[in-house]
Amino acid sequence: METKIVSAKEGIEEGARIIKEDGLVVFPTETVYGLGANALSEEAVKKIFTAKGRPQDNPLIVHISSIEQVKDLAVDIPDAFYMLADKYMPGPLTVILKKSDKVPYVVTAGGETVGIRMPKNVYTRELISKSFPLAAPSANKSKHISPTTAQHVFEDLQGELELILDDGPCMVGIESTVLDLTCDTPTILRPGAVTAEMLSEDLGEVLQNGKVIKIAKAPGMKYTHYAPKVPCVMSASAEKSVEEYDIKEKEGLNPVIVTRDIFRDVIKERNIISLGITAEDYTRNIYSALHEAEKKYGYIIVEKLTGAGIEASVMNRVEKACGGKEV
Ligand code: TXA
Ligand code: MG
Repeated sequence: METKIVSAKEGIEEGARIIKEDGLVVFPTETVYGLGANALSEEAVKKIFTAKGRPQDNPLIVHISSIEQVKDLAVDIPDAFYMLADKYMPGPLTVILKKSDKVPYVVTAGGETVGIRMPKNVYTRELISKSFPLAAPSANKSKHISPTTAQHVFEDLQGELELILDDGPCMVGIESTVLDLTCDTPTILRPGAVTAEMLSEDLGEVLQNGKVIKIAKAPGMKYTHYAPKVPCVMSASAEKSVEEYDIKEKEGLNPVIVTRDIFRDVIKERNIISLGITAEDYTRNIYSALHEAEKKYGYIIVEKLTGAGIEASVMNRVEKACGGKEV
């Protein structure tokens, strides 16, 4: 199958047609690119697992274009959902609710709950409103780094689907926060740009003093995710990064330091990929930097952030990319 990249604005009609015919379409969001299929068609959703090489026991998020659609997809919807929807939808938040009978079990990995998210991208929402709610994981091969450009998707999934809708680089850069509202206490399953601190303002009982009481494991979290194809370690200081770099260079490994610009003075003439300046820049750029690093270099040293909020969310992904290794 030939895979086409088309501008999102121009590809909506074709995308809607493919979705209605049970095909796969890649769409842009503010977090990462998604690999979408009609969430109400078992046949269509199965194709996602085949294209990605994804284990069947990892559930998919259902993407919607209006809050009205939730009534079709979920039952026993708590007030907390509508409160959060008012504030964060569209946005980088996925909420887990009890599923309705309309959602096939292939979407929920056999479970009774469904993840609901409304992405910010206007073309993607138009695609959904012209076709169906879209079940979609990140548009990468299972276990590889998530895609934040159409090109990343093409490199990973070329030949597996017909159409990639391109709307440039994703603005947030890491996957949505996943919040489970079906537990007794609302529980963050995956941290993201809607942070524990932000949610604690709306859901006092999940969190205490701005800290998550309970971070459980999303089913998908047992798999190694976001992993580059070459070794990758974290480093909490620029001095340590430089030390590690020099060792690995002597070993002939062609290392690179992935870090923010503030450390350029320490790093000097060594290979560097810039993550920008702020923690938000870091988050937006990290997956692109890892994609670039694994292509050009043999060993990756990533700056470790130690703060709360978005810094903690992005470190959740970096720790996985590094398999927890730190120098
Ligand atoms: O930002 C995002 O969320 C992106 C874009 C495309 O929307 N999507 C994404 O999907 O990251 P995926 O499949 O790569 O990750 C979804 C995560 C997995 O860890 C999965 O286990 C969890 O959400 N999840 C989905 N449905 C769930 C459910 N019903 N209960 C618990 N966890 C769920
Ligand atoms: Mg993923």
